[in-house]
Amino acid sequence: MSKPVIFSGMQPSSDSLHLGNYVGALTNWVKMQDDFDAIFCVVNQHAITVATDPADLRERTLATAAQYIAAGIDPERSTLYVQSHVPAHAQLGWILGTITGFGEASRMTQFKDKSQRFGTEGTTVGLFTYPVLMAADILLYQADSVPVGEDQRQHIELTRDLALRFNSRFGETFTVPEGFIPKASAKVYDLQEPTAKMSKSAASDAGLLRILDPANVTKKKIMRAVTDADGEIRYDPENKAGVSNLLTIYSVLTERSIEDVANEFAGRGYGDLKKGLAEAVEGTFGPIRERTNELLSDRGELENLLRKGAERANERAEKTLELVHEKIGF
Ligand code: ADP
Ligand code: NA
Repeated sequence: MSKPVIFSGMQPSSDSLHLGNYVGALTNWVKMQDDFDAIFCVVNQHAITVATDPADLRERTLATAAQYIAAGIDPERSTLYVQSHVPAHAQLGWILGTITGFGEASRMTQFKDKSQRFGTEGTTVGLFTYPVLMAADILLYQADSVPVGEDQRQHIELTRDLALRFNSRFGETFTVPEGFIPKASAKVYDLQEPTAKMSKSAASDAGLLRILDPANVTKKKIMRAVTDADGEIRYDPENKAGVSNLLTIYSVLTERSIEDVANEFAGRGYGDLKKGLAEAVEGTFGPIRERTNELLSDRGELENLLRKGAERANERAEKTLELVHEKIGF
C-alpha cells in the first residue's frame, strides 16, 4: 500500500526560522518522513502577500530550504521544493477562488488580525486570498493530511470545505484532507509577552528565538525573559505564563514531560531555569545553524536540489491540474 500523503510549507519571510516554527512544524515534519509520502514546500508566493525586497526574498527562500534540510528533512525521501517553481499552485488557486465565498474568506481570523494591523491601504488582495492559495497547495497533491500548528486550523477547515464543494459540483476530484496537530506539537509564546504566540511578526524582537542567531544573542533574550514576582517554578499557564512558557520550551527540546522538568527545577531560582534553557536551545539550534551555513556556502548545489524537487512536485501537481481543467470545462 502506498503511504498517505502529507503536505506542509512555511513562508520564507525572514532569514531565520524561529523556535515556534521549529517546535510547531519542523520537528514534526522530520519525524513523519518515514511513515508518509511527504511534500515540503517553501511558500514564497505566500510570502509576497506582504511587500518584500526581491534580493531578501531570494536569500530567505534558500535559507529556509537550507534550514529544512539542516533540521533533518531529507530531499531524497521527501519532496522538497519552492512553491513558485510549480506554476500549478497559482493556477489552481485562481480556480478555487471562484468557488470561495467572499464572506467565507472574510471570516478568516488570521486575515482579520493582519488586515487590522496593516490598515485598509496596507492590506493586499493577496493577503485576503492567501487561504485559497493555501488550499490549492494542499489539494494539488491530493494530500491526506496536513500537519499544522493550532493557528492554522481554520485554514484547513476552509481547504476541506473547498474540496468538498468542488467535488460535489464537478464530481470526485480532490482528496479531502484532514488537518492534524501532531501530538508532540507545542505552542510557544513570546518571551517578552508570554500570552502572545512567538511570531516573526511580533512588535519587538526581544521575545523571539531565531535558529540562526548567534548563541550569545539567544542566551541574552532567554535571560531577560519575562517571568513574575512570586519566584516559584511551577507550571501554571493561567497565572504564570512566562515561567510556564520557559518550562514548555525546555520540555519540548529535551523531549521530557513538563511535569518532569518542573520537578527538576522546583525550589530553584528562575536564573537556573533560564541558564538550563539557554543550553538546551543552543544544543538544538547550534548544529542546525552550522549545517545551514554549510548548505548556504554552496548555493549552486542547493539550487540544484530544489530544482530536482520541483520536477517531482510538478509532475504530481500537473496531473491534478489536468483533471481539474477537464472537470470545469477548460
Ligand atoms: P509566524 O507566526 O512567525 O508568522 P508562520 O505563520 O509562518 O509563523 O508559521 C509557520 C509554521 O510554524 C506553522 O506551522 C505554525 O503553526 C508554526 N508556528 C509558528 N509560530 C508558532 C508558535 N509560536 N508555536 C508553535 N508553532 C508555531
Ligand atoms: Na504568520
